[in-house]
Amino acid sequence: SPQIKLAVIPGDGIGPEVVAEAVKVLGAATASEDVSFDLTWFSLGATRFLETGDVLTDEDLGSIAGHDAILLGAVGGTPGDPRLKDANIERGLLLKLRFSLDHYVNLRPSVLFPGVQSPLAAPGNVDFVVVREGTEGPYVGNGGAIRQGTAHEVANEVSVNTAFGVERVVRHAFAVAQARPGKHLTLVHKTNVLVFAGSLWQRVVASVAAEFPEVAVDYLHVDAATIFLVTNPSRFDVIVTDNLFGDILTDLAAAISGGIGLAASGNINPEGRFPSMFEPVHGSAPDIAGKQLADPTAAILSVALLLDHLGLADASTRVSAAVTADIAARDRTPRSTSEVGDAIVTRLTDKGLQ
Ligand code: NAD
Ligand code: IPM
Ligand code: MN
Repeated sequence: SPQIKLAVIPGDGIGPEVVAEAVKVLGAATASEDVSFDLTWFSLGATRFLETGDVLTDEDLGSIAGHDAILLGAVGGTPGDPRLKDANIERGLLLKLRFSLDHYVNLRPSVLFPGVQSPLAAPGNVDFVVVREGTEGPYVGNGGAIRQGTAHEVANEVSVNTAFGVERVVRHAFAVAQARPGKHLTLVHKTNVLVFAGSLWQRVVASVAAEFPEVAVDYLHVDAATIFLVTNPSRFDVIVTDNLFGDILTDLAAAISGGIGLAASGNINPEGRFPSMFEPVHGSAPDIAGKQLADPTAAILSVALLLDHLGLADASTRVSAAVTADIAARDRTPRSTSEVGDAIVTRLTDKGLQ
């Protein structure tokens, strides 16, 4: 049977705890499929840096790039830890993977599952997906400081937007919208202030729209988008936006749809030239790490995205269904990270419980 080479990066904090459950679910969901997963575990993150001084070696990057897909937990230490000051794990590891493996589509679905309490009084039907650009914007590291440490310091952080980069992610977002019943795409930007980038994004959306006549398009400034995400999230179907706006909006999106413990994501290289990487939206949560308090659902739903990406649509659907059923049955009884994973595995293996 075909073998899928999966690179697994548990990372720091709650990363290893949630990845352990995601891997259990992956096994249970694919047991009946004609594929086998060959896992390579990579010890990367703040813990590895503190032990060896390595953030991401060329050897590790080369090895990861040779896999079919990547599952990542979370990386990063406690914000402000002085021992990590020079490491910049987020940039040197996570962003380096996204940039090197050309993950230009950062796919972040938001669904309010039945039974989940939203902090919104009347959330309505929350079911949208943010297509966040993943390789450009202010994330490129095109910055610098002069007179650093003086009263006259100037710190620049330049947002890079290329016609090529914007067009490919916008076209992908249109295709995502075309495939959904809503067929609606919202461009989110800040064209009233960021005039050059904003103009590029708007012109690209207008021209690609001609290829997708069935998709309705509208535009919101990012500040207004945060209002509507809270007051009327059901107005959204697909959002396309730049790297930084997408980062901020997807934490808000997670909060309104039941919390960061449920938010999954895929860092996609659509052409498959490089392995795509699936990870929860949340970080390493140092405040709850090592206590089996983390919700592994976001990591498990990231496995559903991974399976779908690999063309294992049935297995993906089974994971989503098992998670949906588990969520619907949740009450106030506290469960450990592994109890949540086990309950979802039970639903996958015991048809009677589904
Ligand atoms: P965070 O997402 O780690 O935590 C924010 C809050 O959400 C915390 O109170 C945490 O306990 C809670 N939380 C997060 N995931 C949870 C889960 N699965 N179940 C229950 N509660 C959960 O964000 P932060 O505190 O800003 O960042 C911590 C570290 O993680 C930093 O080093 C940051 O750079 C890094 N980070 C990494 C990634 C990633 O690897 N993709 C993403 C975001 C942040
Ligand atoms: C995320 C994280 C990362 C980002 C950080 C840790 C670099 O917040 O995946 O949302 O900003 O993209
Ligand atoms: Mn983020």
